[in-house]
Parts: sequence; C-alpha cells; structure tokens
Amino acid sequence: MAPFLRIHYGDNLKVLAGIPDESIDLIYIDPPFNTGRIQMRRRFHSEGGGRVPEDSFGYRDSFDDLAGFLRGRMEEARRVLKPSGSLFFHLDYREIHYCKVMLDGIFGRRSFINEIIWAYDYGARSRTRWSPKHDTILWYARDPASYTYNYDAIDRIPYMTPGLVGPEKTARGKTPTDVWWHTIVSPNSREKTGYATQKPLFIMDRIVRVHSDPGDVLLDFFAGSGTFGESAWLNGRSCILADDNPEAIAVMKRRFAKYPAEWIGCGDIAPAAERPRPKRRGGRTAVTKNEG
Ligand SMILES: C[S@@+](CC[C@H](N)C(=O)[O-])C[C@H]1O[C@@H](n2cnc3c(N)ncnc32)[C@H](O)[C@@H]1O
Repeated sequence: MAPFLRIHYGDNLKVLAGIPDESIDLIYIDPPFNTGRIQMRRRFHSEGGGRVPEDSFGYRDSFDDLAGFLRGRMEEARRVLKPSGSLFFHLDYREIHYCKVMLDGIFGRRSFINEIIWAYDYGARSRTRWSPKHDTILWYARDPASYTYNYDAIDRIPYMTPGLVGPEKTARGKTPTDVWWHTIVSPNSREKTGYATQKPLFIMDRIVRVHSDPGDVLLDFFAGSGTFGESAWLNGRSCILADDNPEAIAVMKRRFAKYPAEWIGCGDIAPAAERPRPKRRGGRTAVTKNEG
C-alpha cells in the first residue's frame, strides 16, 4: 500500500475509537504539559520603525488531573498498537512521574524500555533554582521481548575525547545514549511554523527511523503543527494525526500543502497564512519557553 498522511480534526478520544485493534506500528505523542498557561508563542519583527506582531497559535494548557485526562486515551493507544508496536510519550518534569505510574499500570512495568532525556539548553537561566532545560520521552514496547529497534538506522554523534579512540572510531562517531542533546526549533529556522510547542524534526526523525520501518503506519493524536507526521511522511511511513485545535489544523494545512494529505472533518479550516521571513538584522524576536 502506498504511504498515506491522514489528518483528523477533533477530540482524539473519538478519533482513537475509529482505529482498529492492533493496526498501528508506532505511536508518538506530545500532550499538553499542564503548564497552567495558554500556550502561545509571540513573535515580532521591525517594520516602519515599529514592532509588528507575526502569527501565533495557541491552546489551553491547564488540567486539574492530566494523568486522569490521558488514561482513557492511553488505554486506547495500547489497544491500537500492533504486538510489535511501541509508544513514545513526551512530557516534562511537571507531570512525567504521575504519567509514568499511569502508563506502567496500562502497559505493565516490563514494557517500559527507556526514559529518554531531550536536553536543549536554550533561553534564560533561573536565579532561584537549577534551570529546567530538558523534556522526558518514555518508551514503552507493547511486547518487551519483540519490538522494532533498527540499530543501523541510528545517527552517529562525535566522541567527546576523539584523541582516546583513534581515527577510525572518530570518523565513524558513536551512537547516542538515552540523553539526546538537540536545540529547540530555532526562531529563525525554516522549520519554524509559529505553533507554540512545535518539536524539532531531528528528534522525530530519530524515533521514526529507529522504531519503525518504511511502509509502517504511525500515529500522533496530539499532533499540533504535525512534526511527527512530516517526519513519518518524509521517511516513507504512513501517518494518522489528530488535533482538536483549529489553529493546529490550519498550520498543518499550510505545512502539508505539498503532500497528498487526506483531511478528515477539517472542511472549512483555511491554511494558515504564509509566514513572513524573519529579518535577521534589525528585527526583534520575543520567544517564550518551548513547553508542551
Ligand atoms: C504539545 S502540543 C503538540 C505539539 C507537536 N508535537 C508539534 O511538534 O507541533 C499538544 C497538542 O495537543 C492538542 N490537544 C489537546 N487536547 C486534545 C484532544 N483532546 N484531542 C486532540 N488534540 C488535543 C492541542 O491542541 C495541541 O496542539
């Protein structure tokens, strides 16, 4: 079957209910982080001597009980995963421990394979505590004895002490550990969509290439700007995406305009306007922390 890219607008619990049992090879989700705020990224550029606001797309990010909100959705996630399938679950320090316990209850503790730390080191430093500069991604395999892990597809990183390992190893580099250093999506990068909590394609590519095969069917039911879907598509996988925020759908409509995407229930949502190219000199950019 030729790969497909399918985007649903609506509550993911309803979208999940329509997905058959054991039909998905890999799930990545990046739910709201429960920051207690409206997630909004504000950008400005200078024009005519003033500050002109650019596009910004937000959503509510406040829950009394985030794990409770997610539980039914994670039971559905396990139901739709193939026996060889994996879940990658992305949050930060605020809620990850509560959700780890919730996920252990659904998948079983043996199915927990890795806690991946994505360290990004960007932005202002706190003067009152150690600055939180990482997110956590939990990996659960539905069957801990049989899952996809394409070792040869892992990218290589430089040795810290190349002098100690010799030229051959230095040239080849080493595999990353469970701590992944990578910057957030830079405000001036071409990758930037304007969606407040957009994650980097690099992180998605590493998960897609190592934990699925070409032709597999992937799922992200907290899709946001659609980063996981774009990575899946560019790597020859099919992907189902869902989001209940019309601004997320609008951003994905612009982002996926060149792909033959299928839009389910997204009827009258127009693509987001093209983003003005940020000025590198003289322009001013205000960036909030990339949370959620
Ligand atoms: C942290 S963002 C995802 C960002 C995404 N990974 C990216 O790279 O752009 C979480 C998304 O979940 C969506 N969301 C929250 N509750 C939802 C629900 N019940 N059904 C579908 N989407 C939901 C929000 O609208 C938001 O776009």
